[in-house]
Amino acid sequence: MITRSTPPVAASQYDDNEIVNPTASAHMDDILAARLSRRSALKGGVSATTAALLGGLGLTACGGGNSTATENPKALVLGFNAVAKNLSDWVTVPDGYQVSILHALGDPLQFGDESWKNDGSETADSYNRRVGDGHDGMYFFGLSEDGKYDAGRSDRGLLAVNHEYVVQPYGLHPAGITAGAARVASEVEKEIYAHGVSVAEVKRGTGNDMSMVRGSRFNRRITSATEMAFTGPAKGSALVKTKFSTDGLKTRGTNNNCANGYTPWGTYLTCEENWLNVVARAAGDNAQRAAKEVVGLNRYGLPENRKNPYLWDTAGTSDLFVRWTSSVTGATAADDYRNIANTFGWVVEIDPFNATSTPAKRTALGRFNHEGAWPAPAVVGQPIVMYMGDDARNEYIYKFVSKAVWDANDVNGGMTAGSKYLDEGTLYVAKFNADGSGQWLELTFGKNGIDASNASYAFADQADVVTHARIAADVRGATKMDRPEWGGVNPLNGEAYMTLTNNSNRVATTATPTGSQLKPDAANPRYYEDMKGTTSQKGNPNGHIIRWREANGSVAATSFAWDIYLFAAQSDAASNVNLSGLTAVNDFSSPDGLYFDPRGLLWIQTDDGAYTDVTNCMMLAAVPGKVGDGGTATAAGGTATVKGANATADNVRRFLVGPKDCEITGIAVTPDGKTLFFNVQHPGENGSLNSPTSAWPASQTETGSTKRPRSATVVVTRKDSGTIGV
Ligand code: FEO
Ligand code: CA
Ligand code: CA
Ligand code: CA
Repeated sequence: MITRSTPPVAASQYDDNEIVNPTASAHMDDILAARLSRRSALKGGVSATTAALLGGLGLTACGGGNSTATENPKALVLGFNAVAKNLSDWVTVPDGYQVSILHALGDPLQFGDESWKNDGSETADSYNRRVGDGHDGMYFFGLSEDGKYDAGRSDRGLLAVNHEYVVQPYGLHPAGITAGAARVASEVEKEIYAHGVSVAEVKRGTGNDMSMVRGSRFNRRITSATEMAFTGPAKGSALVKTKFSTDGLKTRGTNNNCANGYTPWGTYLTCEENWLNVVARAAGDNAQRAAKEVVGLNRYGLPENRKNPYLWDTAGTSDLFVRWTSSVTGATAADDYRNIANTFGWVVEIDPFNATSTPAKRTALGRFNHEGAWPAPAVVGQPIVMYMGDDARNEYIYKFVSKAVWDANDVNGGMTAGSKYLDEGTLYVAKFNADGSGQWLELTFGKNGIDASNASYAFADQADVVTHARIAADVRGATKMDRPEWGGVNPLNGEAYMTLTNNSNRVATTATPTGSQLKPDAANPRYYEDMKGTTSQKGNPNGHIIRWREANGSVAATSFAWDIYLFAAQSDAASNVNLSGLTAVNDFSSPDGLYFDPRGLLWIQTDDGAYTDVTNCMMLAAVPGKVGDGGTATAAGGTATVKGANATADNVRRFLVGPKDCEITGIAVTPDGKTLFFNVQHPGENGSLNSPTSAWPASQTETGSTKRPRSATVVVTRKDSGTIGV
């Protein structure tokens, strides 16, 4: 979310709710599937298709070794008292747990820069060596004594953290953003360097608490100005040629890095979500473009005459600022930045173990509002698989399957291994049928109408397909989802999960949708009204979590069985809204972050604006079952769906609540389960510099603190040095 209390006025404020998927709603297969569903619902059970899928699934490709679908070999049992919902301005953890702050906005990673001063006086340049803003996705990589990736190491590691955006107007500038039509160059420069990723070495001292190792040779910042390479199908394509890189082989910056991923060879994946925050397009630009280009720009939410909320392009004539204008100003693409939008929306791979390595935009994984990229457990001889979501209303869930199969000798292979597994493969998009079955639809140039004959957009080649993955997915009739956020794969049984945070764009089944509105479907089934105080919120205001199991347990399968693991809701909501039976110990709204820790414990984090009259955002721990452990249900609004087993106090429990006006996001747990990291993003986002609503993290320990709120990474440990959560 973007908060600017003293903004230069932008033509179109962008947030991650913006709808840009204009394609017609019901695909013919959806209609057929809906009819089938009604029939099977009448018969009172899951369909034959689903039963066959569920019955035929083996688990041979899963990482859990001796795991089975019917019992949990680790016998994970939640072992803490649920934290109550609350509106305190600090992190509340269960009895017996403690927290410390690892790092916050502005903390110096190296020696030579002063400590953060609480007055915004830090120089722009120093943010190339300071912790950035808007902490989001992250990953812990165990670090061996010889500086290599050691997946089993818990007491020393590298923590890679995304810095998604700048939380205005708090920490960064002396007095917030200077008002005016044009931005102040030094402020924009500081914002450019406060975005991106930080890599910091972390180490245990006494007990299991962790501290940052200031001055470590591994500490590094990657920003919105860092040079990086294009690899995969779009490398060298005319679509990514710019004045900076006339051959389309490289670009500068990764931006609005939301969630993340990691690879089994020991690299970090950071994903570019709301890059429309920084890209503008001038009035009259359509006339300078081929019709096809305009279709592509519009489908990605960049119509002509669109200012960007950050107005970085207005800060001066330096190339550092001009490059944020995606408009035709020169004779060719080599003379301007008309293609700058095509240089964002990718998955970026970073080798945290080599501080001088060049990050790579892995274009084979497609371009969209990339929330994250989550691997299935790697199995020798099987392809590497990444699950991905496009976080905007009505967008899609994707899967990438590598051409190369996993060779465990590639651990510590760095960017070379990355090229081997992530530059060649097959991109798919998900279609969820109403009967609980689903298909992965291939997005390959020359197949299934994804070619130059396509009426809405004439695809030229695979570079065009990955750059315009949304349009290719439209062609295939993929299922439009309620804003895909984080995903993860259960290491104990191989099932994949993804949060669908909320969607205000669903309308009642009896309504006539207008514009991009959609009626509910089985995978996004609820339509209801939720009151936040006296404010009515309609659609699916609380969100849900979907999960799927690949056919025959094969990560490369092209069909799957799905159900809805959890429906978020207030515990006092109607039973056809609170379909998972949440109670006071586990009710929540707007799931966003999701993470299976190495033990198979599931963590759910919220970024909510619906239940925040009652509680701040939170994190829950869960011991999930499996696809098919519930049954059919009829959701509020009358749509039939397939749901998982009900939540109980034993299998879903609230672990912590964050400070005021924050989002809880980003999580990592050490292999021994004894240190947990999570991020607090934008505490106090509804306040202002003169009227703050939060003083966190200072308020965690200082009563009555008036310090500026800052995004930060928190370390959670148990006072008795035990394992977290169980
Ligand atoms: Fe940056 Fe979709 O959350
Ligand atoms: Ca409410
Ligand atoms: Ca998110
Ligand atoms: Ca969110």
